[in-house]
Amino acid sequence: MTLSKDIRKQIEALRTQINEHNHRYYVLDDPAIPDAEYDRLFRRLQVLEADNPGFITSESPTRRVGDAPAGHFARIHHKIPMLSLGNVFSDAELFDFDRRVREKLDEDPVEYVAEPKLDGLAVTLMYESGRLAYAATRGDGTTGEDITGNICTINAVPLKLLGQRRPRKLEVRGEVFMSKAAFARLNRQAIANGDKTFANPRNAAAGSLRQLDPKVTAIRQLDIYIYALGQVTRQISERHSDTLKQLQQWGFKPLPLMQVITGFDGLRAYYRRIAGLRDTLPYEIDGVVYKVNAYSRQQYLGYVSRAPRWAIAHKFPAHEEISILEDIQIQVGRTGALTPVARLQPTTVSGVTVTNATLHNMDEINRKDIRIGDTVIIRRAGDVIPEVVRSILGKRCGNPPVFIMPATCPVCSSAVQRIEGEAVYRCTGGLYCSAQRKQALKHFVSRKAMDIDGLGKKIIDQLVDKQLIKTPADIYRLRHSTIVDLQRMADKSADNLLKAIQQSKRTTLPRFLYALGIREVGEATAVSLANHFQTLRNLLRADRQQLLGVPDIGPVVAEHILSFFSEPHNLSVISQLQNAGIHWSDIQPPPQQQPLQGKTYVITGTLALPRNTVKQQLIALGAKITGNISAKATALIAGQKPGTKLTKARELGIDILDETQLQALLHTHQNTT
Ligand code: IVH
Repeated sequence: MTLSKDIRKQIEALRTQINEHNHRYYVLDDPAIPDAEYDRLFRRLQVLEADNPGFITSESPTRRVGDAPAGHFARIHHKIPMLSLGNVFSDAELFDFDRRVREKLDEDPVEYVAEPKLDGLAVTLMYESGRLAYAATRGDGTTGEDITGNICTINAVPLKLLGQRRPRKLEVRGEVFMSKAAFARLNRQAIANGDKTFANPRNAAAGSLRQLDPKVTAIRQLDIYIYALGQVTRQISERHSDTLKQLQQWGFKPLPLMQVITGFDGLRAYYRRIAGLRDTLPYEIDGVVYKVNAYSRQQYLGYVSRAPRWAIAHKFPAHEEISILEDIQIQVGRTGALTPVARLQPTTVSGVTVTNATLHNMDEINRKDIRIGDTVIIRRAGDVIPEVVRSILGKRCGNPPVFIMPATCPVCSSAVQRIEGEAVYRCTGGLYCSAQRKQALKHFVSRKAMDIDGLGKKIIDQLVDKQLIKTPADIYRLRHSTIVDLQRMADKSADNLLKAIQQSKRTTLPRFLYALGIREVGEATAVSLANHFQTLRNLLRADRQQLLGVPDIGPVVAEHILSFFSEPHNLSVISQLQNAGIHWSDIQPPPQQQPLQGKTYVITGTLALPRNTVKQQLIALGAKITGNISAKATALIAGQKPGTKLTKARELGIDILDETQLQALLHTHQNTT
């Protein structure tokens, strides 16, 4: 085969592949490959076409900006096409972009607007005489779909514009997206209902926006930020940054993190800053966008095929990548739950090498039909544990066997049990199982429990494997001579560990209860139990009825507590621990009426103190914390970057406390108790 025939074949194969992926992404909302992989295919095609211009045809996906609308909704023609953006992935490529702009404008430095690149769907909203006339998707860039009904369900979309001097026709463009929290909620619900989950917030937003029934869209909680203009009957301003300000006056939410920046160094610094914030933002972004600020300069620079020359997207490393599932192993948790874990071919995902990822549970493996040997999409977003999103079925070789959960525990060989109606399989070995023992000990010494510094995972593994400790009480019998013999343990660190063990003996009742690792008894429940019963004796004597009298304790938790304390082995460990010298001062009986009794708070946004700490402090004063704002709430505690709860609280006329007011509230009452 001649070289040119070979290249033509490659180009055609890439076009077919890209067209297929476009169809799955835009029409079916069901992409088969991660965006990063798509970008690579697309770039390869761009490079091949650039080197071989003779093969370029107008049909090539590089000449188009998306895919044709699916046809469920009425079509809408965009008078001004909705274009895409070129991408850069490195400082060097960004430098080239800035250089091209400088040279063409004969201006140095150039003023840009930098914005986050929101990971959702582009939409356009047309306002006529101040009212929303219609809204449409991007579609293929020229023709989109009429999604007015669904757009109207988004609270952040003004149906009527506010303020003065509005052009008769005002078309604004922006990104519809789903927050990380709304996405997690939606998928939790889907799992509970046995429905299909969405792979990421962007797919979830796309699926929600293209619902035929706006009622379904409404409950999905979409959001929108506006970042550009379409058609306008009167020029609004001379610069993009001024337009964004003006849009706020008319009732649109400000585009967060937007900044006017001059020159390359500023752009680079902006990229670094936003990359650092990425995981803390309540919504997903996949990069930042730089736009030349002055409209006159934008016009002068113009467009190349599908993208403007005056703007560029600077992409972050992708959250999703492709890997090979080499094996599925079973991990045993503290309560015996067996979690299937994927062993993967090492792959870099958003800058970190991933070799393991969770497969959640057997239901998920079956539902997603994931098999060993599959090519899989893996996803790692922020602090979340990496997960296997799905298998790429097109790349499966032959018919590998379906994975089945072993009938016995891989660690202790005890029988494996599945409780009716639960998704989890459990090892029935209890503390006989060394995996459960290790986890229970790790929990016992953890920071929020007995807080024994220096007794890390590796040390516990060795102590259990060498049968030096079995129960938490054994920790208090450890001697210097035993510890120094362990790997990674010098004389000095053995001293420090013994000191930490000694110090941990002085604790509090809630910490001790939490450390015991009773199922479903987290920190907050431990605090409630301690407040209610005041002494361990009282708690040990409590029956079901009395347990149900504790705020926030339901029948399931009550049952777990009763069964824990009815186990002679557990009672023996507790008395051994007390004999070893673990003690706490008795909780003062709470005053008849706790200061915040009967009050209910909702928390939103980021607080300076960990949210859990704030919760506990409020609970300790008798308050209740709930997740949803309703008319019953006493006040909303709003930290940095509050969510939609703030708007809702304002609508309902509920008090709003900022962090200083919260501190004052806690301070006043903590001093009185
Ligand atoms: S401006 C002509 N600004 O990225 C320029 N786009 O890859 C039009 N996007 O289709 C786009 N955040 O869906 C612009 N701050 C932002 C953006 C943004 C996300 C999306 C948008 C667009 C795609 C281009």
